Order: sequence, then C-alpha cells, then structure tokens
Amino acid sequence: MSSLTAIISARLEAVAGIDPELRPSTKPQFGHYQTNVALRLAKAEGAQPRAVAERVVRQAELDEYCEPLEIAGPGFINIRIKAGALAQVANRLLAGENAGLDPDPSPKRVVIDYSSPNVAKQMHVGHLRSTIIGDCFTRVLRAIGHTVIPQNHIGDWGRQFGMLVEQIIAEGLDVAALDLAEAEALYKRANQHLNDSAEFAEQARQRVVALQAGDGQTRAIWQQLIDVSLAGFNATYQRMGVLLSDADLAGESSYNEDLAVVADDLESRGIAVTDGGALVVFTANSDTPAIIRNSQGGFGYTCTDLAAIRHRVGDLAANRLIYVVGAPQAFHFEQVFAVARIAGYLPADVAAEHVGFGQVLGADGKKFSTREGTAVTLNSLLDEAGLHAAPEVALAAIKYADLSSGLQKDYAFDAERMVATTGDTGPYLQYAHARIDGILRRAAADQLEYGEVTRLDEAAEQNVALLLSRFSQTVYQVAETLQPHRLCGYLYELAQAFSVFYEHCPVLRSEGEIRASRLALCRATQLVLAKGLYLLGIEALTKM
Ligand code: ARG
Repeated sequence: MSSLTAIISARLEAVAGIDPELRPSTKPQFGHYQTNVALRLAKAEGAQPRAVAERVVRQAELDEYCEPLEIAGPGFINIRIKAGALAQVANRLLAGENAGLDPDPSPKRVVIDYSSPNVAKQMHVGHLRSTIIGDCFTRVLRAIGHTVIPQNHIGDWGRQFGMLVEQIIAEGLDVAALDLAEAEALYKRANQHLNDSAEFAEQARQRVVALQAGDGQTRAIWQQLIDVSLAGFNATYQRMGVLLSDADLAGESSYNEDLAVVADDLESRGIAVTDGGALVVFTANSDTPAIIRNSQGGFGYTCTDLAAIRHRVGDLAANRLIYVVGAPQAFHFEQVFAVARIAGYLPADVAAEHVGFGQVLGADGKKFSTREGTAVTLNSLLDEAGLHAAPEVALAAIKYADLSSGLQKDYAFDAERMVATTGDTGPYLQYAHARIDGILRRAAADQLEYGEVTRLDEAAEQNVALLLSRFSQTVYQVAETLQPHRLCGYLYELAQAFSVFYEHCPVLRSEGEIRASRLALCRATQLVLAKGLYLLGIEALTKM
C-alpha cells in the first residue's frame, strides 16, 4: 500500500529515525498533515526543537509530493501535499479496478467465525450483530487480497437434542412442517417437560446416547430440526444481504469425532489432568481451569472449539483466526486460545483474535426486549426501522449503527435517529452516493465529457482529493485492527467534504477543463463511497 501518507511518513521516519505520527491538520492554514516529530526528537537528543525541525525538513526531500514544508510554533512541521500529487491519486483511482485498493503483499488465509446461531432457536440480536460485523470483515479482508474462509459454527450438537427429539416423539410432531418460531416453542415445551418430569429427563438422557451412537430414527429427527432451522437462518441472511451461504456451515456436530481425539491427546501429553472426575487444563490466565470433558464423560463447548482450531489451522491452513462473538464470551476464548497455544494447535505464527461486541439496547438505553418480553429478532428490528424507511435504507441504518461506534460499546436502537438522512447514519451515506450519481447522470444526459482530475485550485476540492488519498490506508487499518468504525468515520468525513465541495464549487454550471476536472472528482468520490459502502455491506443506492 503506497498511499501518499505512507510515502511521506516513510521518508520522514527515514530521516528522523522515529515514527513521525502524521496527524491530519486541525486547520487548513496548517496544511494537510502535521507532525511533532522534531519536538520529540529534540527532547531525546537534548537539542533545540526548531533546529531539529529545520534539519528534518532539509533532509526529507519531499518536493515531488509536497509544497515546501513549513515549521510552525515551537517546531511543528506542517505538510501540504501538492495539488498535482493529489490529482494523481484521484486519477489512479479512476483508472483502476478496485477503487485504488491494492492487494496486500503478504496475503493471509483468514478464518472468520461469525453468525453461529443455535438450532431450534431464533437468531437473537447478538447473532445479528455477529453476522453484520463478520460480513464486514469478510468483505474488507477479501477486498485487499486475503483469502477468507467464513465458518458458521452453528450450535447443532449437544445434550439439548436429547430432550428435543424425545419431545417430538412424545407429541408425534411432524418436524418438517415447523418453522423456526415453532421450533423454538417446541424447545420451550421440552425444557418445561424436562423440569417437570424425572421420567422424561431420563428418556432425554437415553436419547442423547442414542444420538451419539448414530441411531437411525434419532439422527433423522435431529437432521430435520437442523433443516428447518437452516431454512430460517437462510431466510434471515437473505433479508440481511450478507455473503454467508451453506458452503460456510461448519456446525459443532462436525467436530463430534474429534472430541475424544483431542481429549486423549491432551491427556496423554500431560496437558490435561483429572480434577474432581473431570478432565481439565489449567492455564496461566485463571484459577478456573478449562473443562475438556465433564465428570459425566461429556464433551462441551470448550473441547469443540479446540477441535475447531485444530481443523482450521491443520486442514484449512489458516494463519489468522477471527471470532466475532459477544463480549460475555471473552473468557471462554481466552481459555480456548491459551490451551490451544500450550497444545501447539495454535502455533505462534497464527494469530487468534476474539472480537467481542456489546449489546443492542432499546431506544431508552435499557435492555432490549419485545413487548411480549421475548428476545428481539432481526425481523422485528427491520420491521421497526421499516416503519420509517424503505427496506434497503432500513437495513443500511441498522448495519451502520452496528458498525459505526466502537464494537465493544452497547448501543441504543433508536430507529428514528438511525434512518435519518442527516447526521452520522447509513442513510446519509446512501444519500450522498445517490446525489453524486444524480450529478453524473445529468452530466451524461447533457453529454458532458469527463476524463481526469487536472485542476484542484480550491481548498474544498483539495480536501476531497486528500480524503480520497486516505481510502486505502483506512481499509488496511480496518483489516488490521478489526475496527469498522474507522471506515464509517472516514466515509462520513468524505461525504461531508464532498458536500462542502459541491456547495462551493459549481460542477455542472462551470465550463471547460474545470467542469471536466470536477466531474472526474465527483466520479472518483462516487467510486470510493460505493466501494466503502460495499465493504460495510450497505447497498449504494443511485436514487433515494
Ligand atoms: N452458538 C454460540 C452462541 O450462540 C456462538 C458460537 C461462537 N463460535 C464459536 N466458535 N464458539 O453463543
């Protein structure tokens, strides 16, 4: 990624020997970027800051890209990029395929574990957040040349299937005829039954054994439960416009055969020990050990995740693992990663990251539930946002709200604010994109030509071009830090800068070279907005 900022930053670092930490200037009169590198260097050397600044400025040799560097105040260096260099970035963007995004020179194989709902239950808001965030990561990493392997780790295995199957048989239910909401109701009845009847509880236990042993009837009913659930999940994915498909399914049940293998491996190597009848691993993180096999001989969530890591690293050859799962599971992943490191399932050169996220709260900032007190589904959220806007706009509103503040934070679902076309919202960005499309459509109707950006005389024009030059580095930052709010903030800034430009600089009403150049700047901005929205999973509308 050789963005302008990266080049300038690298030159300054070569001269100063420390990271210049370029910051966008706070005021136009300070140029485009500022650095306090000379102040820091002077402090370390015990030298005079302005003298150090003069030396850095002299040695940096940035004439090709920058106006003469200026020294301000006690020794700040102000950097103004040449209009020609900015124009070049915009033109490269116009000529290229991928809105100026170059492939990462060291592409990785990245497994992203996201969505991961549970069979016979509706997706709750946590699964929706996971789906939206994971979809964004998949798009961002793929856009810069990484191989992404999504893994939808659905909860399709475990003791609960004993009671579910038993309840189905007891009621004589035709599972295939159920929808997901009805399957969830069944789940509740089975649970109730289990609590009420010791006899039923015993039958459910037997049924777990039968499921594990591969009993035909039991497996068939279990499979039907999965099928009706998947139909429900897929309908939701379709409504959300996410990239997940059946090819990405890797449910807990797919690790069933590996669980005993993992347990034996850990035990025979002395990594796992018996503690109160259970097989556990003590890690440096905590006094609470990771449970590999419980005292009844069952393998749970932790062992399954260890088996999944072996598969992802060993078979899928991943060198980066990302888990998009709610913040309450942070400790679980800490433990799993720690055990996997000890056991060598997770070699030192493979990164493992849990991206936790906060809750969605009601508009009143309180815990979110429906009027009936049940968990909120995507459909109910979309219905609520849809009271205020068209479906693509409602979806944009929800996705942007999900991605635009720090993921760790809880956020309030305030449908009216989220769908507004003003302010820091998804619909505002869609509107900005549609507006530019309208300008270009009118230009096309009048057969106005545009080729390249050749003139950037106005500060407002330069500011748009400057922001365009930051697109690639912003996307790379999101890929590295897994913080989509950086891309949201960037696109918001770009849309605002465009709006200022359009107010101050007539486009269709100007003439000749200026008009052609401004139209090209409009087109370059549209390309970046469209790509940026795509990376967030938001539809770039042409009319609104
Ligand atoms: N099914 C789990 C839940 O609903 C999420 C699974 C997350 N992924 C994982 N590999 N543990 O909480």
